[in-house]
Amino acid sequence: MRQLRLHRASLEADAPTYPAGYIFRRFAEADADGLRQVLEACFEESDWGDANLGPQTFAHPKGIGCFVVASPRGIAATVTGLVWPDAPHEGYVHYIGVHPDHRGLHLGRLALLSLFQQFRSHGLSESILDTDDWRLPAIRTYLNLGYVPRIVEEGQEGRWAAVMDALSTT
Ligand SMILES: CC(C)(COP(=O)(O)OP(=O)(O)OC[C@H]1O[C@@H](n2cnc3c(N)ncnc32)[C@H](O)[C@@H]1OP(=O)(O)O)[C@@H](O)C(=O)NCCC(=O)NCCS
Repeated sequence: MRQLRLHRASLEADAPTYPAGYIFRRFAEADADGLRQVLEACFEESDWGDANLGPQTFAHPKGIGCFVVASPRGIAATVTGLVWPDAPHEGYVHYIGVHPDHRGLHLGRLALLSLFQQFRSHGLSESILDTDDWRLPAIRTYLNLGYVPRIVEEGQEGRWAAVMDALSTT
């Protein structure tokens, strides 16, 4: 069963305004431990040992880059951007996550707005991403930002209806 896909037909958006002390920047080697902590907290199902972390994983040939939101209390969030191979005008959002200690500040939304700027500077014009049915805070973030569902497999209409139903009750 495939993940749910969302599409945003434009990369135009307001510039992000981060809470005081939070800075969006490109991942650097010194961020590796902080990035690992964010990824482990956000994606428990994956192994974030050295072989799966940092430039080795995130320096995808079509990569826009791996970015972090840094704070005085360490790395708060991350997002990675790729150019989608099947549609070179589409920026693909990969592994976006906010450490639980920093949630509730819309850092996910802000990191996406920053990533849109990166996508635009690489000549891209649209964005897509894949997610899981149960990631409701993420899906709410995407919908609020103007992403819309793109059906990529039979049966996804019903899954989307269930997601929308769940969001309407939270
Ligand atoms: C998705 C994620 C990045 C959002 O973190 P954040 O930017 O701090 O988001 P917030 O906590 O500010 O919440 C974002 C929105 O979701 C809503 N939300 C929070 N918990 C929710 C829940 N359990 N169900 C539904 N909506 C929820 C918030 O009210 C907010 O809505 P609003 O923008 O209308 O006010 C974060 O939850 C995360 O890292 N999750 C784990 C990793 C993940 O799922 N990544 C996405 C992979 S596709």
